[in-house]
Amino acid sequence: MPLASGARLDLVLLPIHRWIWGDSERRVRKLLAFAEVEADGGRDILRAAEVTADPLLRRLYLAHAIDELHHADLFRQRGAALLRSRSRYADTSSRSAWDASGDHGLDDLRVEDEPDESLLAFLHLSEKAAAGRFALYRDVVRDDPPTRAVFEEILRDEVFHMNYTYTQLARVSPGSYGWKLWRARASRLWKRYLRMAAAVAGIFGSVLLTIQYFVLLPPFAWLAKRAARREPAGWIPAPGARHQPPTSQY
Ligand SMILES: [Fe+2]
Ligand SMILES: [Fe+2]
Repeated sequence: MPLASGARLDLVLLPIHRWIWGDSERRVRKLLAFAEVEADGGRDILRAAEVTADPLLRRLYLAHAIDELHHADLFRQRGAALLRSRSRYADTSSRSAWDASGDHGLDDLRVEDEPDESLLAFLHLSEKAAAGRFALYRDVVRDDPPTRAVFEEILRDEVFHMNYTYTQLARVSPGSYGWKLWRARASRLWKRYLRMAAAVAGIFGSVLLTIQYFVLLPPFAWLAKRAARREPAGWIPAPGARHQPPTSQY
């Protein structure tokens, strides 16, 4: 199976993936985050089954949605089993950009607004990326046979999803499926670039604010303290103050 560009990047980042999956708390967090992504994807594909006018695609989308919701159950059950086996509770609410996403990425798409060929092209690329990533994770968790079995089972479905979306794309758009795939790939790359640019901008912003805090603020704090030391203590009369009694109207 040819690897998607994201999967090739994952291979380069293999040591980081090993580090992430090597910790039981991170492993639980990843599995539960995958469960959310798969369930979201399943609901979106269910919506696609509702709105498509193509009866064959409706049946395939329905089967696909059931698979994704089943994947969500598998990930959730495995994450819960690992969580139960641990002595202390792990915070599973925090989720960062780098440790989430099984790469279905349907949050990038409004299913109702997309024609079948665009949705199929997007789904094909997403399933291909997910299959590459899950194959990598399956190999990374060799020390945990039940988790490895979950990835093994899900991977078979993802490969089927990757293949049927390609076949159906070629059926519904025989003259331009290559162009549709190219456009979907460009759109995914652009959205990935925007996410990375936003993350980098956030890091730069934090660094600049920290530098400002330690470099620009101290001189102002020193000047303020010096001005405060020069102020006489207690009440002082205001310059040019009037001396009428406070009860006088004028
Ligand atoms: Fe899935
Ligand atoms: Fe899938």
